[in-house]
Amino acid sequence: MTNALPIARDARIGPFTAGRIAYGCWRFAGSTPDEATAKIEAALSVGANLIDTAAIYGFGDPGFGAAEEKLGGVLKAQPGLRDQIVLVTKAGIHPPLPYDSRAENLIDSCSGSLKRLETDRIDVFLIHRPDLLASYDEVAEALTHLRAAGKIREAGVSNFTPAQTRALQSKLDFPLVVSQPEFSAVHTDPLTDGTTDLAQELGLALMAWSPLAGGRLVSGQRGEPGSVEARVLAVLDEIASENGVGIDHAALAWVLAHPAASFAIIGTQSPDRIRDSVRALDVKLSRRDWYAVLEAARGEPMP
Ligand SMILES: NC(=O)c1ccc[n+]([C@@H]2O[C@H](COP(=O)([O-])OP(=O)(O)OC[C@H]3O[C@@H](n4cnc5c(N)ncnc54)[C@H](OP(=O)(O)O)[C@@H]3O)[C@@H](O)[C@H]2O)c1
Repeated sequence: MTNALPIARDARIGPFTAGRIAYGCWRFAGSTPDEATAKIEAALSVGANLIDTAAIYGFGDPGFGAAEEKLGGVLKAQPGLRDQIVLVTKAGIHPPLPYDSRAENLIDSCSGSLKRLETDRIDVFLIHRPDLLASYDEVAEALTHLRAAGKIREAGVSNFTPAQTRALQSKLDFPLVVSQPEFSAVHTDPLTDGTTDLAQELGLALMAWSPLAGGRLVSGQRGEPGSVEARVLAVLDEIASENGVGIDHAALAWVLAHPAASFAIIGTQSPDRIRDSVRALDVKLSRRDWYAVLEAARGEPMP
């Protein structure tokens, strides 16, 4: 029996299958059309066919909807790309409210996303953050309507607690397919707050956002002395050296080695880094390596 934790290359997301490195468009809105095309082509060239965006991405500069518009431009110029992509977008964040998941707003937001993305359907539509003022009944009403109308294929949640996810699921007569929490070697809450457990219980594809902690878990970073980053980077550095890869690959492998973690959504703007990211799938992590990273994050040994 090999000592390395298994890291499969693909995972299920509802009825779809996608590469376990997903590409996220949060930082993508400022790209030129050519740059945007190069990033999406780089992702697809290495099997990263799960593309994550949101109506809010681009808010401020250049503006609400700008990341979807940019991706829509790429899809319009090359219509063949749409069928190669599992397309995820999100709704419900509206600064300065900050959230609005009333049924009418979710339905309007989906229409806006479809237009900007130059497509006729969203593969997985996520509620971006829980709106504490929207009842689960009305959120479920919107998702049911959008799914019946064929505007979305499947639905899911992001940044929901397990109790919030269960409450929404209880109002739906179809299964949610995605839970998208922040999850990285320095943000390990999903391992202990019930998120990874519920994903396995309900069969949700877990999409880890900011798996490199937004750029804090990459080669060249050291972290403030005594910080969680410094401790985790030291352990990841050893794993990276043993495997002949970068710290970013070791950090992605750590996320993907967990049995509930279906996808790691990377956000680099460099096509070379996008292509290189799949080296994470070949990292050999032992059980001891995995727990050593978690112990570094906790700042103490496992009990
Ligand atoms: N659901 C939510 O609420 C939520 C929230 C946040 C994000 N997300 C999703 O998660 C995606 C990823 O988030 P993220 O962008 O924070 O992810 P990330 O991959 O953890 O961080 C990306 C950042 O790391 C830097 N980086 C990556 N590799 C590097 C390397 N080898 N050396 C130096 N810098 C490196 C990138 O800079 P370069 O561009 O210079 O490489 C970029 O600034 C987003 O696009 C979005 O789709 C979802």
